[in-house]
Amino acid sequence: MSTEPQTGNAAAAGQPVVRLDKVNKHYGPLHVLQDINLEVAKGEVVVVLGPSGSGKSTLCRAINRLETIDDGEIYIDGKKLPEEGKQLANLRADVGMVFQSFNLFAHKSILENVTLGPIKVKGMKKAEADKLAMGLLERVGVANQKDKLPAQLSGGQQQRVAIARALAMRPKVMLFDEPTSALDPEMIQEVLDTMVGLTQEGMTMIVVTHEMGFARKAADRVVFMADGQIVEQAAPNEFFTNPQSERAKDFLGKLITH
Ligand SMILES: Nc1ncnc2c1ncn2[C@@H]1O[C@H](COP(=O)(O)OP(=O)(O)OP(=O)(O)O)[C@@H](O)[C@H]1O
Ligand SMILES: [Mg+2]
Repeated sequence: MSTEPQTGNAAAAGQPVVRLDKVNKHYGPLHVLQDINLEVAKGEVVVVLGPSGSGKSTLCRAINRLETIDDGEIYIDGKKLPEEGKQLANLRADVGMVFQSFNLFAHKSILENVTLGPIKVKGMKKAEADKLAMGLLERVGVANQKDKLPAQLSGGQQQRVAIARALAMRPKVMLFDEPTSALDPEMIQEVLDTMVGLTQEGMTMIVVTHEMGFARKAADRVVFMADGQIVEQAAPNEFFTNPQSERAKDFLGKLITH
């Protein structure tokens, strides 16, 4: 859960960190994002739930401009997401993204994986980037692995490095797309714990996950998607105990019986 004062103050103080305004996207005939309106306040943790194919990953990828949208607007911290170019690279640096697969650079050390972005994109000096990276590796609990290659780490450790790498860009919002679903069960908790730590520090987060425990514990709000639409959204306790739509009831019913 994010710390109350930060959420409250920021929400009262100003604009959302992420705002989607009537966003639409098609893949051929498939209307994969349908008039999506979403605002995420500073320090807010939004968990996105929904059946497979409902558009959750597409939503994340659109926010980071890894996917184009057909119409509507996306704003990061009040700035419209540009189409391309250096402006896009700069704005994209404000959005940290952690995927299901770790996407670490296989031939670079753990430390280099984290320093690369700050050095290349932000022009940070190596010494400064090393210091920043070590602090972040410390924070996610893998500082002692800094000289290894990604393949020499466990999946859970690699995913924590991926989180550190995203944080090294000092993002304004972190997007997580099923960050634990490729992990062995015994490694899921360490990654979830790292994410809970971030929420407690007041990080603004959008998290797609099947980990309902995380959603209950860490989310300020659950956004439920089905068929490219946001069908309902509510505080986690309200969503899990009293879903309004048939789609959400059906989704939750399946979770419980499996
Ligand atoms: N590059 C693509 N080209 C065509 N169709 C796509 C593409 N990417 C996704 N889709 C389709 O768009 C729909 C939404 O996909 P998306 O990956 O956003 O769903 P999701 O909610 O993340 O599902 P899951 O829970 O399985 O990850 C699906 O029907 C999918 O097949
Ligand atoms: Mg997905």
